[in-house]
Parts: sequence; C-alpha cells; structure tokens
Amino acid sequence: MRGIAVVTGASSGIGAAAARALADDGWRVLVGARRVDRIEALAAEIRGLAHELDVDDSGSVERFAAFVAAADDDEGGTVGPSRLLVNNAGGAFGWAPVAEADEPQWRAMYETNVLGAVRMIKALLAMLEAHGDGTVVTVGSIAGHEPYPNGAGYNAAKFAVRAVMSAMRQELLGRPVRVCEVDPGMVETEFSLVRFGGDAERAAAVYEGVTPLTAEDVAECIRWVAARPPHVNVDQLVVLARDQAGARQIYRRPLQAD
Ligand SMILES: NC(=O)c1ccc[n+]([C@@H]2O[C@H](COP(=O)([O-])OP(=O)(O)OC[C@H]3O[C@@H](n4cnc5c(N)ncnc54)[C@H](OP(=O)(O)O)[C@@H]3O)[C@@H](O)[C@H]2O)c1
Repeated sequence: MRGIAVVTGASSGIGAAAARALADDGWRVLVGARRVDRIEALAAEIRGLAHELDVDDSGSVERFAAFVAAADDDEGGTVGPSRLLVNNAGGAFGWAPVAEADEPQWRAMYETNVLGAVRMIKALLAMLEAHGDGTVVTVGSIAGHEPYPNGAGYNAAKFAVRAVMSAMRQELLGRPVRVCEVDPGMVETEFSLVRFGGDAERAAAVYEGVTPLTAEDVAECIRWVAARPPHVNVDQLVVLARDQAGARQIYRRPLQAD
C-alpha cells in the first residue's frame, strides 16, 4: 500500500475517475463532495471512505479534516507512508464578457477553485508533512494559462490557483511535501453542464465534432504524478486533447449528413 489519498470533488468527472485510478494503484482513498450518495457508492466500490465536504464552507472542511485525521490514526501504521491531497473540487459558472460580469458567479468561482483548495491545504498540511512524504496535486486548467473571451472569471480563478501553487512550492522548499499541478484542456464531464446552469444542449455543443479528453485520461495523469518517487516534483503537467491546441484553438470535424 502507498498510503492515504484524499480526493475532493469525487462525486463526478475527474475526481471520481482519480479516486478509482488511485485505489487501483494501491492508495487508501478518502473521498469528499457535497453529493454524499454518490461518494458513498464510490467509496464502497473502491474500498475507500467517504465524507460530506463543501470546500466553500470552512466548518465543513474542518469536519472533513477530522474525519481524515481519524482515518490516519486508525490506519496510519498499515496503509503505507505517503499522504496525498488531490485538490480537484472546482468548476466554471457562467459565460459572459467582462463588461457583463456576474459578480456572484465570479465570487463563487474564486471561492471554490482558489479558497477551497487553500482551505484543504491549510487543514491537511500537517498530516501531509508528518509522515515525511506528502504530495498536493491541484487540478488547474489550460484556462489558467490562456485567457479566452467570455471566460475571464474562470481564467482569473485558475490563474490564481497557479499563483498559489507556485508560492507554496517556494514556501515549502526543504520540507517533504511536493506541490504539483495537473492542468487539463477540454474534458467531457459534468463541467459544461454546471457552467451553463444545467442547459444540456448547450453543454453537449461544447464537445460537438471533437474527441475531448475523458475523466480517465486526466485521472491517469494524476495517478502518474503521485506515483513518481518522492524526490521528483512534477510542477505542472498540461494535458490537452489532440483536437485542441491551446484554450481557443479547437479542431471540429464537420457533422456527417445522413
Ligand atoms: N472538464 C473540463 O473541461 C475541465 C478542464 C480543466 C480543468 N477542469 C477542472 O477539473 C476539476 C474537476 O472538474 P470536472 O471536469 O470533473 O467537473 P464535474 O464533473 O462538474 O466535477 C466537479 C466536482 O467538483 C465538486 N465540487 C464542486 N463544488 C464543490 C464544493 N464547493 N465542495 C466540494 N466539492 C465541490 C463536485 O461535487 P458536488 O457537486 O457533489 O459537491 C464534483 O464532484 C475542476 O477543478 C475543474 O475546474 C475541468
């Protein structure tokens, strides 16, 4: 066994796939999200543990951290020396030019993607460090490298995630914690459904004519980053579909006529 891995936002998409990939790779996986029925089913499938988690809410993060600490106390001696936090909970809300920015949506994106990750790090850093081999893998985005029209609120949040990871990598220099980022391009998950407020047609159009990444493709990157030897820190891993060359350049196959 490798050790204990915490995955946030594990109720769908990349987080759920990462939890499965990590469990297959010998981690004891602890999953969190707001949709508890989903994470409980996942935990049963991967022989992990589940607990409600809203990364926007510091009380919820504290309760989740207590659950992780209890699992660490119970199993610390038996599951292996490594400790991993996958900061995956996040997403985009809305699609509008800066001139029409929806402030509550911008605030929500900063709250979940940036402060959510920071809250989790603050709550779990001591545990990650205590065993002498800790890793944080945060899921950023190509949107944190290249701004695009109508995406500025999400861009700003994911740029901020990169800033936080970079600062922390410098702050923790000399201590046994790796700080890594996996930054995907277009991945077909519930992401677009959430971004467009549940509009399934609009969400489906995002992937039309494209072969996007799957959640499993990104999960494999996370698994690989975490499985490097402790002295190897993969600072940033940017992964895009072959049909995508940057945040804005997407190749779409023409639709076939019947
Ligand atoms: N799909 C893409 O194209 C893409 C590309 C680049 C980066 N990303 C990033 O990848 C990560 C995962 O997204 P995804 O594509 O897998 O989308 P998804 O299918 O919508 O999954 C998002 C996950 O985040 C969780 N979440 C959202 N807000 C939360 C909160 N306040 N507290 C706890 N969990 C929360 C959701 O669970 P609950 O709703 O149950 O809480 C869900 O499990 C996000 O950080 C996203 O920004 C996605």
